[in-house]
Amino acid sequence: MENLDGRVAVVTGGGSGIGSGICRALAGEGVKVVVSDIDDAAAAQIADSIRGDGGTAIAVRTDVSQRADVEALARRTIAELGRVDIVCNNAGVLVGGPILETTEDDWQWLLSVNMMGVVHGSQVFAPLFLERGEGHIVNTASVGGFLSFSTLAIYCATKYAVVGYSEALHMELAPRGVGVSILCPGMVRTNLSTSDRSRPAHFGDAGGSSKELGDLSQGMEPIEVGGHVVRGIKANAPFIFTHSDFRGMFQQKFDGVLSAFGA
Ligand SMILES: NC(=O)c1ccc[n+]([C@@H]2O[C@H](COP(=O)([O-])OP(=O)(O)OC[C@H]3O[C@@H](n4cnc5c(N)ncnc54)[C@H](O)[C@@H]3O)[C@@H](O)[C@H]2O)c1
Repeated sequence: MENLDGRVAVVTGGGSGIGSGICRALAGEGVKVVVSDIDDAAAAQIADSIRGDGGTAIAVRTDVSQRADVEALARRTIAELGRVDIVCNNAGVLVGGPILETTEDDWQWLLSVNMMGVVHGSQVFAPLFLERGEGHIVNTASVGGFLSFSTLAIYCATKYAVVGYSEALHMELAPRGVGVSILCPGMVRTNLSTSDRSRPAHFGDAGGSSKELGDLSQGMEPIEVGGHVVRGIKANAPFIFTHSDFRGMFQQKFDGVLSAFGA
């Protein structure tokens, strides 16, 4: 998909952080954007600012943990913009803290958004792409989808799951004309360390907190991540890495894995 002008993209978690950067970068390429988020006011604000810059954007409230919501998002996109070419399954949340203090509710919340949100977006949009033999899926994982970090056990487990799911999805869909890219950012200047704001009331028993992540203010700007995503889609890249400074940690990890096989 080398020319993105006039295409239609859906971005989940588009109301903040990396999602908003992806929305703006795609809009800069002439893509019509559906800014989708559980926070409808935030989504509306990003859509308004894209329209203010001369682009085309609509805001749709979606809870990605609910498959019916994602199905409604697809129907609304086609009803209002006529087609869909790209889906960025980006919505994600974080709970940190000592692993033995995490609760069943912490696990269920992160699995429902980070893992099942990606599954819902992929399973709902892929059939539409397969019908036309064209389309692109970008699933947001993290460097934490390959590397584990102390006090981020649940988050890393869900991101490893996104990588595993998306690699298999790529194997199945690539021969049928549909691209799958796995976005793996390092630290980005977003609101991820206040994810607790999005925690639904029914996940009541919090053991950890998103505040454990600490300060992201020195991270990469979301629009820069958006630029990587645009280039990744155009190049049909299986992985989109944004932070080359993690290369050494990846090397160390995979060297350790390979050495465990013996000589
Ligand atoms: N910020 C980083 O350093 C970093 C690094 C690697 C990966 N990521 C990943 O990037 C993605 C975006 O996170 P961010 O850092 O921009 O955080 P953010 O908090 O700024 O944005 C996340 C967005 O997701 C939305 N959201 C939360 N729950 C939702 C739900 N159930 N349905 C729909 N939308 C929901 C929030 O309202 C918010 O707008 C996440 O998947 C995150 O894990 C972030």
